[in-house]
Amino acid sequence: MNQELPVRHRRSWAEPYKIKMVELLKNTTQEERLRAIEMAGYNTFLLRSEDVYIDLLTDSGTSAMSDVQWSGMMLGDEAYSGSANFYHLEENVRKYYGYPHVIPTHQGRGAEHLISKILIKTGDVVPGNMYFTTTRLHQELAGGTFEDVIVEEAHDPMSQAPFKGNVDIQKLENLIARVGASKIPYITIGATVNMAGGQPISMANMREVRNVAQRNGIRIILDATRAIENAFFIQQREEGYANKPVADILFEMCSLSDGATMSGKKDLLVNIGGFLAMRDEWIYNEALSLVVVYEGMHTYGGLAGRDMEAMARGIIEAVQDNHIRARVGQVEYLGHKLQEWGIPIVEPIGGHAVYLDAKRFLPHLKQNEYPAQMLAAQLYIEGGIRSMERGIVSAGRDQLTGEERHPRLELVRLTIPRRVYTQAHLDVTAEVIASLYDRRSEIPGLEMTYEPRYLRFFQARFKPKAN
Ligand code: F0G
Repeated sequence: MNQELPVRHRRSWAEPYKIKMVELLKNTTQEERLRAIEMAGYNTFLLRSEDVYIDLLTDSGTSAMSDVQWSGMMLGDEAYSGSANFYHLEENVRKYYGYPHVIPTHQGRGAEHLISKILIKTGDVVPGNMYFTTTRLHQELAGGTFEDVIVEEAHDPMSQAPFKGNVDIQKLENLIARVGASKIPYITIGATVNMAGGQPISMANMREVRNVAQRNGIRIILDATRAIENAFFIQQREEGYANKPVADILFEMCSLSDGATMSGKKDLLVNIGGFLAMRDEWIYNEALSLVVVYEGMHTYGGLAGRDMEAMARGIIEAVQDNHIRARVGQVEYLGHKLQEWGIPIVEPIGGHAVYLDAKRFLPHLKQNEYPAQMLAAQLYIEGGIRSMERGIVSAGRDQLTGEERHPRLELVRLTIPRRVYTQAHLDVTAEVIASLYDRRSEIPGLEMTYEPRYLRFFQARFKPKAN
């Protein structure tokens, strides 16, 4: 923003808050970090958080709540049924997302579990704009198969397309022609697309998907986890939206879907919580009877009253234009710094994270030597920075053949929690990455020593390959 103006004439964005409580960080030595990553099997998920200096593992549940949200925590109505906080949450989801029916869940995957169980039959196919790990697994466990129908540019970390989260309409039409609409219970639309590097989908594309879906009698379920960030990109990049508030754009996006799964731990600035929302009475009734089996009563869904209150209040803060501009602005700040230094990242810079392109960072490693996994481990050893692999380890194995999937993107995600770190933390992060980049040719690959059955990236263990 305003990058082209001389610094003196710029009007920069600044965080629309000030800091009133802090958490102290621990510094560690390189030897201590080497020991810690070895204990963790070269998997950053298995590190102890107290051994981490700057934690960019995820933006999920790691954001800082406001004083307004914290004071809401004191107003928790911890009744088993009919909590006042539930009605407050329902009211705000209706107002800002526009779905009439809302069922809280403990987090996003709780909602994915319910909708997959309700709508998917064995042999069904669920198309989507790139997979997300938990979403696809719930679809598979319900008997379905996920089909990626995202545009080709999404797989190219160097493509500058503004909406790399778009659905390739031709791929979608071809899939419908091939398997038949009756085999497709719904289309999942991710906004923004996490595994593609936090890339947005355009309103025009959502509308096209809507038309195809309606013509074929197929539902659309939005993964609204980071839809507010997507709405901001629409405001910045899509014709006709420059003067619309992000809140209005969010509402319009949701109007093009039949329901949504939501992880409140991202956009909504809470440490725990999610919901399933929908228009359809029939789905709602099914969800009402399933939620009590897996999550809890439909007025708490695995959450305490106070958690629902924090999320209800978080919605209002999250849709403010000045909040979202600073949030995405901070991610762009780190991304621009790395770009200036010639470090390979996914472009354009995403909404919640900067993604290092491990294929270009470590070109001497083959994908089955887990370059992104190793790069994440090295970032930790170098500077105590925790990031996450989003490549071959995350992609897992094909359900039928048992073979490793080979995604074209082999990435390390530097995910920025909301309202947590300062610009100086991001400067240090960029400097650590730069010094690692200078000695990149010395970095060896990894071999996997333990592989769990489901979502292996969380608990898999590795050791460096002997050179
Ligand atoms: N959908 C997307 C796009 C997500 O990024 C996540 C979680 C979920 C659904 C599931 O939500 O964690 O509340 O059950 N993503 C986290 C991440 C884990 O680090 O990106 P959940």
